[in-house]
Amino acid sequence: MSNRPALPAEIARRRTFAIISHPDAGKTTLTEKFLLYGGAIQMAGQVRAKGEARRTRSDFMQMEKDRGISVSASAMSFDYQKFRFNLVDTPGHSDFSEDTYRTLTAVDAAIMVIDGAKGVESQTQKLFEVCRMRDLPILTFCNKMDRESRDTFDIIDEIQENLAIDVTPASWPIGMGRDFLGCYDLLRDRLELMDRADRNKVAESVKIEGLDDPKLAEHIPAGMLATLREEVEMARALLPPLDIDAMHEGTMTPIWFGSAINSFGVRELMDGIGVYGPEPQPTPAEPRQIAPEESKVSGFVFKVQANMDPKHRDRVAFVRMSSGHFERGMKLTHVRSKKPMAISNPVLFLASDRELAEEAWAGDIIGIPNHGQLRIGDTLTEGEMLKVTGIPSFAPELLQTVRAGDPMKAKHLEKALMQFAEEGAAKVFKPAFGSGFIVGVVGALQFEVLASRIEQEYGLPVRFDASQFTSARWVSGPKAKVEAFIAANKQHISYDNDGDVVYMTRLQWDIDRVGRDHPDIALTATKEMM
Ligand code: G4P
Repeated sequence: MSNRPALPAEIARRRTFAIISHPDAGKTTLTEKFLLYGGAIQMAGQVRAKGEARRTRSDFMQMEKDRGISVSASAMSFDYQKFRFNLVDTPGHSDFSEDTYRTLTAVDAAIMVIDGAKGVESQTQKLFEVCRMRDLPILTFCNKMDRESRDTFDIIDEIQENLAIDVTPASWPIGMGRDFLGCYDLLRDRLELMDRADRNKVAESVKIEGLDDPKLAEHIPAGMLATLREEVEMARALLPPLDIDAMHEGTMTPIWFGSAINSFGVRELMDGIGVYGPEPQPTPAEPRQIAPEESKVSGFVFKVQANMDPKHRDRVAFVRMSSGHFERGMKLTHVRSKKPMAISNPVLFLASDRELAEEAWAGDIIGIPNHGQLRIGDTLTEGEMLKVTGIPSFAPELLQTVRAGDPMKAKHLEKALMQFAEEGAAKVFKPAFGSGFIVGVVGALQFEVLASRIEQEYGLPVRFDASQFTSARWVSGPKAKVEAFIAANKQHISYDNDGDVVYMTRLQWDIDRVGRDHPDIALTATKEMM
């Protein structure tokens, strides 16, 4: 990673990342402080403000407002010092979803926020595993140090052990809870003091010459100073120093300690993201990978959001720019259909507002309003037939049948289901035999969310019921063999919304039987989005 060519300055300054955390660890508060220091909002409190103020901010979706959960990803861009930060929001609900995985294909790094009293919690662990699948670099923020927290070494040990990643302290906390004074910045040999009087005030930093500087005694009581010296000495002896390559490879995470609500430690973390990066990375694609510095523009759709504007039935495709310098009005080739597309009204998610994008560089996220042509996994280029890879579709773990409350509305239901399938919110299967649909999701909450969205957006009450099937597998193999397989297994066959053949199973036994009886047929639990 370190021997990549230098990027054009506009690209090199971009930092595209997501925040992963367990609910309540402080993601919203941290996001708000990012925006505050990024000059995108004037006052803390705007991100969580209810009503009108909130509507223009990070979550423009009705569902998010109604349910207080972040159902789908959104993106925010802001400038910090010489950097352009693109923060991509990960869905906040506790079910693992493909949405989350795909969101993480659009970023170059993740910030892992943990609560200093609670350490690595279940949702953090799950999200971390998703990051690991992509070797995503991770920067850690240990929050709520103003509260009674766990011992610093314990926290670091827990991360190392539970997540199997090396941890290097970027800062070291001085005291905790009511006695928390601030941090010693290990990367810059500075003392950062927390201002308790004003939560929005940026911490005072004191320039010092290492831990023996007599100036330290002016700010830290003797007992605490002795502990700090001892702990830092131990930390330096026991823990590895920051190795930027290891961090970029996802095998080491630097950890900062702070208190988001008190605006403490946040700037140091932002400085860390800026200085240590990573810069926009190459995008895996077929037949060749795409480098960010290529002059030709390319990008891929990692998310489709319908009904962002209730007045229109438009969709917005969220596109991560993989290379080049995009300008509004450009014609790009939609690789799947091989057709040109004029991108005339792209949206840039500047945190202050949603704005028309005049330009975007590799690393940026833009929104492209469209009528359904753009699907998750699609690649846009200046003509070259490149196909971005690694955006999988997972076999759903939960299946239910769905019916419209009013049987006359079956067509409407089909339309609604197709829309959600395109968004990637659910898998929709049409059985080869019989009528109706089977809907598949990865987490149980998604059925509820779907039912509520279908009712709100299409005025259609629906019922989900248990299905006889428990799992689905995509079918592949030589054409004649697949046809014979379909003929012999009609009761198990469905078609997904792309028309691909799916084998519905009740038991692992079904899958084993296929392996025995049809050795030329492959059943897979993931499918690359085409
Ligand atoms: P989330 O998005 O990860 O779910 O967390 P969020 O930022 O909403 O924070 C969860 C709770 O933790 C909030 O309290 C928030 O104020 C508090 N919090 C965030 N950072 C810190 C911190 O550094 N120190 C302390 N002590 N608390 C912090 P709440 O009571 O749920 O909401 P509110 O009444 O404060 O708005």
